[in-house]
Amino acid sequence: MKARMIAIDGPAASGKSTLAKNLASALGYLFFDTGVMYRAVTLAALKSDTPVEDEVAVTAIANVLDLDVQPPRTDDGRQCDVLMDGEDVTWEIRSPAVDENVSQVSMYPGVREAMTRRQREIGLRGAVVMVGRDIGTVVLPEADLKIYLDASVEARANRRYEESLGRGNSVNVDVILEGMRERDRLDSTRKLAPLRPADDAVILDSTKLSIDDVFKRALALAEDVRQQGEA
Ligand code: DC
Repeated sequence: MKARMIAIDGPAASGKSTLAKNLASALGYLFFDTGVMYRAVTLAALKSDTPVEDEVAVTAIANVLDLDVQPPRTDDGRQCDVLMDGEDVTWEIRSPAVDENVSQVSMYPGVREAMTRRQREIGLRGAVVMVGRDIGTVVLPEADLKIYLDASVEARANRRYEESLGRGNSVNVDVILEGMRERDRLDSTRKLAPLRPADDAVILDSTKLSIDDVFKRALALAEDVRQQGEA
């Protein structure tokens, strides 16, 4: 059977990663969250005191960054290990400072080009569930199944709030909500590869659906695609 590619796009905290992780394990596919790459470039810029407004310097960092994503070796809720120059930065790339600056970094054409190239190489190997903002539209337009997972901004902010509390951080839900609104605005209005559903994407809304409901619907879609391929 031909190897299959599944693209999952949508705004922050819509449940994309959880869905993709579950789908990948049910289908025996690789789970690949492309957001970690933009987050790692952002962290590398912050760590080296490079102003994120400096497009040339940030792009240079993106082009040489030693980045690796591996199956998790620590059981602390992580979905993968993210290694930057050999160092485990899995949680550091989720810090508020990275949240605040990642949309700016992911706007730069040179950064997107470098990341898209690496993502396509991995995606074209097949048997992959790839998650991001532009997978169905730019990275893997030939994907066999494209899902756009949406949810209200309030539901998404609330999920991030619960996640942060669960990790022992003291956070304010209104600050998270405002940050999320701003990130939605930047991600969907940027000129290059903005967040939007591909014309042939199936749109699912997880506002009122449980994780399991979303998973069941997506798995049914994936099974349909698989059967069509075998017919
Ligand atoms: O999914 P996430 O919150 O980890 O993504 C972090 C940022 O990276 C998000 O603000 C948009 C950007 N991103 C992108 O532009 N394209 C992707 N394919 C994935 C993420």
